[in-house]
Amino acid sequence: MAARAWWRDGVLYQLYPRSFADSDGDGTGDLRGIIDHLDHLAWLGIDGLWLNPTFPSPNADWGFDVADFRDVHPDLGTLADLEDLISAAGERGIRVLLDLVPNHTSDEHPWFVDARGDRAAPHRDWYVWRDPGPGGAPPNNWVSIFGGPAWEPDAATGQSYLHMFHRKQPDLNWWNDAVRAEFEAILDFWYDRGVAGFRIDVAHGIVKDRDLRDNPPVREDDPPSLRRLGQRLEYSMNRPEVHDVLRAWKRLGGRRESPPMLLGETFVPDIDTLATFYGDGTDELDLAFNFPFLDVGLDARAAAAVVAEVEAKLPEGAWPSWTISNHDSVRFPTRWAAGDDRRVRLALMLLLTLRGTPILYYGDEIGMREAEVPADRVRDPVGLRDGSDEPGRDGARTPMPWTDAPGAGFTAAGIEPWLPFGDLAVNVAAQRADAGSVLHLVRDLIALRRADDALHAGSYTPLDAPAGAWAYRRGDRAAVALNLSDAGVVVPGLTGRVEIGTDRARDGEALEGSVALGPWEGVVAIT
Ligand code: NOJ
Repeated sequence: MAARAWWRDGVLYQLYPRSFADSDGDGTGDLRGIIDHLDHLAWLGIDGLWLNPTFPSPNADWGFDVADFRDVHPDLGTLADLEDLISAAGERGIRVLLDLVPNHTSDEHPWFVDARGDRAAPHRDWYVWRDPGPGGAPPNNWVSIFGGPAWEPDAATGQSYLHMFHRKQPDLNWWNDAVRAEFEAILDFWYDRGVAGFRIDVAHGIVKDRDLRDNPPVREDDPPSLRRLGQRLEYSMNRPEVHDVLRAWKRLGGRRESPPMLLGETFVPDIDTLATFYGDGTDELDLAFNFPFLDVGLDARAAAAVVAEVEAKLPEGAWPSWTISNHDSVRFPTRWAAGDDRRVRLALMLLLTLRGTPILYYGDEIGMREAEVPADRVRDPVGLRDGSDEPGRDGARTPMPWTDAPGAGFTAAGIEPWLPFGDLAVNVAAQRADAGSVLHLVRDLIALRRADDALHAGSYTPLDAPAGAWAYRRGDRAAVALNLSDAGVVVPGLTGRVEIGTDRARDGEALEGSVALGPWEGVVAIT
């Protein structure tokens, strides 16, 4: 039988390069800083590293507005630094994934600079242009995810261009074959440099309705993220033709000796739609982000229902992924756990024991909370938009607290980092020194997962559990019991030995048919 792909059994780690470690003391994290801290990731047991955007960018959306897909942002380093990072990570058994942004470019990308100058420009049709509607109205009713109309009038040619995000992020026209060919060349450019795959930004949304039909209004039972926009993104995202692009990319990578992996940002509201991004289970994305799970919270019944749906609906051969924090969401210790350490530990036990690939966000391993970012330090365009009452996403993107010393081990003492530090009492050094810390819990869970087939590859079977608790078997030998409630519970059906408890005093305890769990307590047992 063919070996299982590395990313199926492994653990991925997402990091925001500007906030991981600053090697040159300018207050901004960089690639050399990541190299300097690879030993932390190796110690933790990480298999793959996804770097948020590393490309040159004017930073209207902090790297998600790309001005050159084949280079590195000078704030972060050079192409040679990235190559060094890939090989230094490789020496530690860690693969590197980049963040590809195919939905749009920066308005400062040379393609768009060319396109906007003249209706006959060579790159004109690489973007989506339309004449304004009657009285100068936008060409259709689409709204930008960042707020306001998705169309920007452009005086030079009298037409408007589409931008599903910031007006400095014009959308590419994926109906144009030259755009498709160019991106295949970009993928190959990075694969040739040892990149092990990509996280694909807006993977569900790059192809738009060819006729740009108006989106229908939201319905009452739509999720809050859609209700906020006032419309369902029926024609502006998630069109059937996006699957052709994903299949082509999968074929392209499949020609390589070590096929790269594709991890898609599939921001779709339900598991039925999510499942479609795996194609027939082998021919589209390798992993698709599960946003319904990220949104569900520590609610035993609701979270178990999402997992059950994933188990039932993903096509054969497909592999789930699980994530609880990322650079767009409030960090899980704040959002899911209200700062309660017991819940933080429980959430991490859940993340690291489900069937599928867990994706940690930098700082998750120490239970890093959302940071307070004062109004005059806001950098995120979502927080800066005129008239917006949204705080923006900066609170989840603040510098990694390596120590509680001045500079936090992130930058030099006395240097003001690009975003303010959060609570430095929660830091890596203190937790490394404490065998009972969240950091050691995460490391031990990863090590157990790696050592035990049942935990990294075994099937998922829910077990009976009292209200507020959730228990499941992994493979034949492992069982997990989690109490997501404020009351003590007894979960039946567990025997063997507690390998890891969220309360580490329980490690090694023998179970004889059931386990009593205190509020927000969990165990992993092996028979
Ligand atoms: C999704 C990314 O995760 C987010 O950070 C970004 O602002 C938008 N896509 C636009 O690229």
